[in-house]
Amino acid sequence: MSSWSANDPSGKPVAGRTAYLILHNTSEVVTPDAEGREILRFPKGGVVFRDGRVLEVGPAAELSRRHPDARPLNAGGKLVTPGLVDCHTHMIFGGNRAAEFQRKLAGESYAAIAASGGGIQSTVNATSAVKDEILEKTLANRLERWRANGCTTVEVKSGYGLAPKREIRLLELMSGAAIRVPVRVHRTALLLHALPAEFEGKREAYVEEVRTTTLTEIHRRGMASAVDVFCDPVAFTVEECRAVLTRAVELGFPVKLHAEQMAHFGGAKLAAELHARSADHLESATAEDWRALGEAGVVGVLLPAAALTLRQRLPEAALVRASGARFAIATDFNPGTAPAQSLMECAALAARLCGFTASELLLAVTWNGAKALGAEAEVGHLTPGAWGDAVMWECETLEELPYWMPAVRPDTVFMRGADLALPAVERRVWP
Ligand code: NIG
Ligand code: FE
Repeated sequence: MSSWSANDPSGKPVAGRTAYLILHNTSEVVTPDAEGREILRFPKGGVVFRDGRVLEVGPAAELSRRHPDARPLNAGGKLVTPGLVDCHTHMIFGGNRAAEFQRKLAGESYAAIAASGGGIQSTVNATSAVKDEILEKTLANRLERWRANGCTTVEVKSGYGLAPKREIRLLELMSGAAIRVPVRVHRTALLLHALPAEFEGKREAYVEEVRTTTLTEIHRRGMASAVDVFCDPVAFTVEECRAVLTRAVELGFPVKLHAEQMAHFGGAKLAAELHARSADHLESATAEDWRALGEAGVVGVLLPAAALTLRQRLPEAALVRASGARFAIATDFNPGTAPAQSLMECAALAARLCGFTASELLLAVTWNGAKALGAEAEVGHLTPGAWGDAVMWECETLEELPYWMPAVRPDTVFMRGADLALPAVERRVWP
């Protein structure tokens, strides 16, 4: 069992971790295998949890015979999967940009809105106007909503601070929020998102400040488990991103990129060159980019809510399959391009927009999402030794998961083998 450290909110203790129980009377248990190669289906399957981890998965009748002392938990004929992994969110922010969405629908471009004082900069202003306690509480509420929607592991990026001190503030508040809720939180420092107003006309100085001061401080304080950048014509160039990410790699950080979002720009190739954990967005990526990601073992992360909001296209399933790359799906939850609160809803959209199968989609929101976070040894599957993070869904078959809209909801969410009460999802989380 891993020890708990204040720097690793994902490793905090959770009530019930010593329980020994068997989940039985499922319609089926469906999970990726430990290597994320295929989806295993156990009709009338069961799962045995012990000390917070999965002890065994298989036919429930057999497991019940072998574990007579385990506390039985009746799944009521429902589908059980691993807890979902949302590997890309920008959940810590103040305000919203609903008015900006109307401008977008009327035809104004993302770049034009940003240039006129909207966009990321307006969320940076709104975020710095929110008091620490409120921002932390709001993030905790959002994480609870994600858990109620089936996510047991959630990545949260900074990025609405921009100035070094404000980025560090967001990373600090994330660990405060993570300690309040039974969700594994992966903190990512999104360090090149937009040029802060005070560095107007001083791009080089900003990149240098991020590369030296900000990165060094975040590293010294163990505040993030990965570093991200926005590589795009509306944000930072390939060279600027390379400068920051190369330093991050030297410091031992895994890296990831927002790549090929607004235009084809070279971010996917940079991700492959640096063996990034993931390259995210990829709306403008080519088949060659996808092949490069596949060869380098970089997960391609698709964000259907952002693509829809900006009225962009996602790749066809056939293109992704032919590339040999793994793909994950995430919400990208943020106030500008993806006010999307349900990861399963995003998977249901990807089914329709790209043509992925139910098995591919389950892999995309579990094992592949975990791989994008470097957490695939521990989460994203229900195989012996993995954390006992699981969801019992209000449906019976794997095929129903991407089928229903709005997305099918969890009946019960297990964290470390413990059935913890779900929050009332109706609670308002928008301050
Ligand atoms: O993932 N692309 C960069 N970041 C966000 C959008 C940020 C914003 O508009 O606030 C995204 O789409
Ligand atoms: Fe994003």
